[in-house]
Amino acid sequence: AGAADLAGRHVVVSAGGTREALDPVRFLGNRSSGKQGYALAVTAAARGARVTLLAANVELPDPAGVDVVRVTSALELREAAVKAAADADVVVMAAAVADFRPAVYAAGKIKKVEGEEPAPVALVRNPDILAELSAHRTHPSQLVVGFAAETDRVLENGRAKLARKGCDLLVVNEVGEDKVFGTDSNEAVLLAADGAEVPVPLGSKEQLADLVWDQVAARFGTRPLT
Ligand code: PMT
Repeated sequence: AGAADLAGRHVVVSAGGTREALDPVRFLGNRSSGKQGYALAVTAAARGARVTLLAANVELPDPAGVDVVRVTSALELREAAVKAAADADVVVMAAAVADFRPAVYAAGKIKKVEGEEPAPVALVRNPDILAELSAHRTHPSQLVVGFAAETDRVLENGRAKLARKGCDLLVVNEVGEDKVFGTDSNEAVLLAADGAEVPVPLGSKEQLADLVWDQVAARFGTRPLT
């Protein structure tokens, strides 16, 4: 990794997990701690990038020299991502975004009623932010990178996801209740739309992040700065 190979680039990274509110006290969420996304932000800053970090419900301290935007839900993350992407050279979606949100937000706390079964929770789809950013690039040479959190048929699902989402690179990692989520290490395969597949052995989340930036920097090549 060249020391300042991201100098002059605006890098946008999302981290953490969205929360989809049911009522003022409850939400649907996921196990993302934000560590992988923060590792991407810290390593990009170390390589000279201007970094905007979109943090969804992360309890980690703000990394030095990084512009942090806090969001809660998928809809808020989408708004912040579209705004930050306007002048971004690359957007990396490491956040775990809820595919669905409750169809109805109850303004008051949902109460249990004696002798009645609980009402089922109806869900509606959230927008796919990664697919949207990939389809509507704000600059012809803008790069879009996604993550795929898979529990089974990891590579097969990853390849299909890369094609479906239309991004340039997809970091495929195998997750479980205590695997990757909240830990300090990760292993992955980097799938590129140009067909390259780069396995990343188990290492720190910073090591994986640096390998992602290597791939990104290689694809920037001699493209002019935006
Ligand atoms: O935060 P940590 O504890 O360090 O854990 C790291 C991680 C497991 C969260 C991370 O490595 C990871 O895999 N992040 C992506 C999680 C995820 O949402 O994966 P997915 O396969 O469901 O989604 C695929 C891609 O589409 C992701 O880039 C996701 O950000 C994006 N997406 C998904 C749904 C949606 N509605 N909009 C999206 O943009």
